[in-house]
Amino acid sequence: MRQILVTSALPYANGHIHIGHLVEYLQTDIWVRFQKLRGHRCIYLCADDTHGTAITLRANQEGRSEEELIAEMQSSHLTDFRGFGIEFDHYGSTHSPENHHYCNQIWQALLDADLVVTREIEQLYDTEKSTFLADRFVRGTCPKCGAPNQPGDNCDRCGATYTPADLIDPISALSGTVPEVRQATHWFVQLEKLHGFLDEWTQSGTLPSESANYLKGFFLNEPLRDWDVSRPGPYFGFEIPNAQGNYWYVWFDAPIGYISTTKQWCDQHGENFDAWWHNPACEIHHFIGKDIQYFHTLFWPAMLHVAGFNLPTKVHIHGFLTVGGAKMSKSTGTFVRAAKYLEHLDPSFLRYYYATKLGSRVEDIDLNLEEFVARVNSDLIGKVVNLASRTAKFVESTGLSARYPDDGGLFESFAKQRDLIAECYEAGDFGKAMRAILELADLANPYVESHAPWQLRKDPSQADALQDVCTVALNLFRQLVIYLSPVLPDLAAKCGRLLNDPLTSWEQVATPLLGTPVAKFEHMMQRVAPEKVTAMIEESREQAPATFSNSPQSIATFDDAGDALAAAPIAAEITIDEFSKIDLRVARILAAEEIPEAKKLLKLTLSLGGTERRTVFAGIKSAYVADSLTGKLVIMVANLAPRTMKFGVSEGMVLAAGPGGSDIFLLSPDSGAQPGQRVQ
Ligand code: 2FM
Ligand code: ZN
Repeated sequence: MRQILVTSALPYANGHIHIGHLVEYLQTDIWVRFQKLRGHRCIYLCADDTHGTAITLRANQEGRSEEELIAEMQSSHLTDFRGFGIEFDHYGSTHSPENHHYCNQIWQALLDADLVVTREIEQLYDTEKSTFLADRFVRGTCPKCGAPNQPGDNCDRCGATYTPADLIDPISALSGTVPEVRQATHWFVQLEKLHGFLDEWTQSGTLPSESANYLKGFFLNEPLRDWDVSRPGPYFGFEIPNAQGNYWYVWFDAPIGYISTTKQWCDQHGENFDAWWHNPACEIHHFIGKDIQYFHTLFWPAMLHVAGFNLPTKVHIHGFLTVGGAKMSKSTGTFVRAAKYLEHLDPSFLRYYYATKLGSRVEDIDLNLEEFVARVNSDLIGKVVNLASRTAKFVESTGLSARYPDDGGLFESFAKQRDLIAECYEAGDFGKAMRAILELADLANPYVESHAPWQLRKDPSQADALQDVCTVALNLFRQLVIYLSPVLPDLAAKCGRLLNDPLTSWEQVATPLLGTPVAKFEHMMQRVAPEKVTAMIEESREQAPATFSNSPQSIATFDDAGDALAAAPIAAEITIDEFSKIDLRVARILAAEEIPEAKKLLKLTLSLGGTERRTVFAGIKSAYVADSLTGKLVIMVANLAPRTMKFGVSEGMVLAAGPGGSDIFLLSPDSGAQPGQRVQ
């Protein structure tokens, strides 16, 4: 029996789980369920990743503490995971005493190994908010390609990487003010001192070959850069010992969450922690996305090695999810939250569909909604569930035959596939496993067709033959469900109840079930109704799509209601000359401030580029949180006569649609537009 510890990447506590995340959690859950079914000792651990500036920012926006925010997010994540049948043995948090303990321990090991140095670096500082700015809270013009409004670490347009101080015209995303460059002491881990170890470890068969090959070049070409592991306060995290006011960077303490969550699980179950993290016989498997490879293939093994913990046996790396061949997007409704999916569709559908798509290579996977509907309906309903729904009711009163009938060798040939299918699961090649299983289903269905139990039941003299045919069909069904059970645990449970024999082991596939009673047939799975998919997409859409031709799915139709137009009919005609009197400009919101006494107004400081600024009081307070607007591009009427209001002079107007209240929608140009450009 193998002893296996499995993790998925720890989700950030500042966002909800969506169908992109689910690729990884479902992939891991399937692999873990497979290992457990094979009789191995396997635990699946995960936790919320809770530290960093993003959490503080959001907690401040919402007027509550970081602790309150992360507690609520953890419970929301757990509800979503449970909804999809993702079963952790324990789910922790990086904001725990255990995590603090292991951070200290690993840090001390790095210090003892003489791997830590301090250096003064230049970092941008927001004087208004009195805080150093994390890379992602600075925006400015890309120093390489000149793209405006880029984040402080890398350019979305040209992909260049840089530091925030390299940005042209940087702006603090926290306050909209121009940040100052200040000196700050940072703590670094000198990875280059571990060059030899990391070079060898990354080539030891632990990583997918694509990643190992990529890293090989990396090691040959350059020394490893020191890793900056500290952030000056204020910062939501753990303070570094003897470094008052400085905290470990979130990426230092996040993977340590794998260890501290194991410790919590051990304490709760009377298990010996050392048997998991200080035991060469225990396998450690991490499942991660390709975007966080560096952390898991360089920094993390370095930390483990130095502190004397087990090294990962395997890092399973998957690609990103696209929907209809395009990046998930809020405007087209393809950025679907887990909870929204569950309002409309059965989680088994997505579990199965992702399984058909997952292979062992680091490749992106595409969710094509039409194919999703077709696959589920034709494979699961048409070929698997149908075997039971067309036969079980005929043996409700008799149960299964006592002896296994002659089925022309079908049962035997199904059982023979068990090693091959197991190898596919083991290698993460779930798509290949699903194809092999469906090929078997394609053999089972002709058996039922040709023996037509629905005809046999009409002739009482054929009662034994009817029982035999149904016994064969239900045993073949059961074999398919055993093979599918890591993917479809719910179907496996229903099959167990139907045949009065729970599915608990892979090897059950080799012995027919005989003489057992058959329960009344309960509905196993509904067909996917395409209109439910459409409704899910519609409800996930956050704003009108930029262009209809980019719509990723023909299934998502745009049948907008006519209520808005009916409520405000089109105004009297004007000439083009009349229109051109209105000078509409692209503007950037540099700052948005609450005016406590004003019920509806936010005070906006708008930039028209260069040093040109406008103050506008906008009636959008009921729909927007002030801090969320900083950096946003809007459209303003730039030549409106200034208006003196109770709180100051308003020098224009920003354009928005919607009836009011929380339904106010600011108009923004597509990305690439520059402040000051005229709208015409
Ligand atoms: O990329 C992410 O979502 C991170 N929260 C993953 C952390 S994984 C681990 F190292 F903790
Ligand atoms: Zn660029």
